[in-house]
Formats: sequence, C-alpha cells, structure tokens
Amino acid sequence: MERILTVRDMQARAEALRREGKRIGFVPTMGYLHEGHLSLIDEAKKHSDIVVVSVFVNPTQFGPHEDLESYPRDIDRDEALAASRGAGLMFYPSVKEMYPGTQQTWVQVEDLTGVLCGASREGHFRGVSTVVTKLFHIVKPHVAVFGQKDAQQAAVIMKMAADLNMDIRILVAPIVREADGLAMSSRNVRLTPENRKKAVILSQSLFGIREGLLKGQPAGALLEEARAAISAVPGAKLEYLELRSYPALEELTELRGTCLAAVAARFGDVRLIDNVMIKI
Ligand code: PAJ
Repeated sequence: MERILTVRDMQARAEALRREGKRIGFVPTMGYLHEGHLSLIDEAKKHSDIVVVSVFVNPTQFGPHEDLESYPRDIDRDEALAASRGAGLMFYPSVKEMYPGTQQTWVQVEDLTGVLCGASREGHFRGVSTVVTKLFHIVKPHVAVFGQKDAQQAAVIMKMAADLNMDIRILVAPIVREADGLAMSSRNVRLTPENRKKAVILSQSLFGIREGLLKGQPAGALLEEARAAISAVPGAKLEYLELRSYPALEELTELRGTCLAAVAARFGDVRLIDNVMIKI
C-alpha cells in the first residue's frame, strides 16, 4: 500500500491513474479506523479500480473547546487496516500541507447546516464542506463514499456536490454497530467503561422510536419518552433528539416520506451521535 503525504504527489498520482483509465474511489476519514470506515472501503471497491483513503484530522471543523487535541490517532494501524480491506493508497497530509496559509475561501451549504449538529457546532459544517472540496480536488475521485452514521454530513455533501456541479458520484453506506447496538465511532475509545455501557441508550431510544412510528404511534409522545429516558441516565447530557425529513432536514411532527430520527448526547467529555432512517 502506497502512502502519499503531499498534495502535489497525490494530484500527480490521481492524474496518472485517470490517464490509465482507472476509476478512483475515495473514502475520506479522520483516521483511527474501525469497521464503519472499513465498510466504506468495501463499498468504494465495488464502484472503482483503486480506493484512496485519506486520513486527516481537519482542524477547521473543530470548535475552540472541542476534542481536536485528544482525537485518537494511529496511522500505522490505520494503514494496515485499510490495506487489509484492499485500499490501494493512503493520503496522509499534515495540517501545514492542507492549510499552508490562511484559508480565505470557504464552502458553505446554507439551510441544511443550521439545524441538528450545526445548531451547536458553529462553523463545523463549513469546515467539513471546505475540506471535502479540497480533498476532492486533490484525490480527483470518480466516486466518494460517506457513512449514514453522520447523516447530516452526508446530506450536506450531497447538496454541495449537486449545487457546485461536482462530477463525483456520492454514495452513502449504512451505519455499522457494535454487538449491543452502539454506533461505531473513533470517539468510542474515549468513553469510560461505565459510560460505554450507558451509551447504548442512544441506539435503544432510536430503535424504540422507529418501532413506535411504524406501529402508528404519535411522533411527539415517542420523542418525549425517548428524551426523558436519555436524560434519566446519570452522566448523560442530551443535546438533541429530533425527527426530520431526509435529506432536506425539515422538522417533522409525523411520519412522512423518508424520515431521520437523530440524536446527539454527551457522556463525560465525549459527544456521540446516532440516527435511524424510517421509510414509509
Ligand atoms: P470520520 O468521523 O473519520 O468518518 C469518516 C467516514 O466514516 C464518514 O463518512 C462517516 O460517516 C463514516 N463512519 C463513521 N462511523 C461509521 C459507522 N459506524 N458506520 C458507517 N460509517 C461510519 O466524517 C469525518 O470523518 C469527517 O468529517 C470527514 C468527512 C473525513 C471530513 O473531515
């Protein structure tokens, strides 16, 4: 497996691959790879000749009091895992390489980023859409794969790619979960053992909402019940639990079309998110 550290080398390699007629699949990540990330590599492989995985902990999507410094990192482990699933190339730039001067140009997707995670993480999605655009220009993929785990991020990237006529197919792959239902996340390793056990309340609440909605129970009561159950867990701090349309993310009070039930909560200093899609 090849590891590329600079923008210039990556662009030259991508250009050469394109000239050879190869389809480039791309999985952007912030590293500390787990089965969720690896499932995206599997999906990308189905649609391309070579899969590029990027590992870059992007400072512009972290707020001043967020976990940029403590974000887990292990590039050798990441490289071995990505290689084991058949990725061909790892792009691993430094912050200096990605942001050599002051960044004055930003990509901002408007309405979609004011709700859910965007409401509390100011500037987060601006950082995400900007770095993903930069990575797209560096890796030059034909197809890029994102996870449903970050449902709002996937909606933002799809809208950005459509609005800016990016000639890249955006695919979204399902959430991979631990045996007890907790959505896999690089941040799970930072949970204390007690909080790791408590965190299962998030997926349990979402599954309960999905079941209730499909049985025809009223959304308002289901959401209230789930909010109360999460808030009752000692040490859990609920940020939001909402039902929205997908991918437009409009607030819903009843089941209509494709719905997203999404949650964010803190356990100690670890912020977790999860969601389920409900289709009728
Ligand atoms: P990161 O959190 O490392 O996630 C990289 C990709 O893996 C995202 O598309 C995310 O949705 C997906 N993913 C994470 N956990 C998953 C799970 N349990 N099941 C399925 N997919 C999962 O998301 C980012 O990085 C960054 O914002 C990035 C897009 C790389 C831009 O910096």
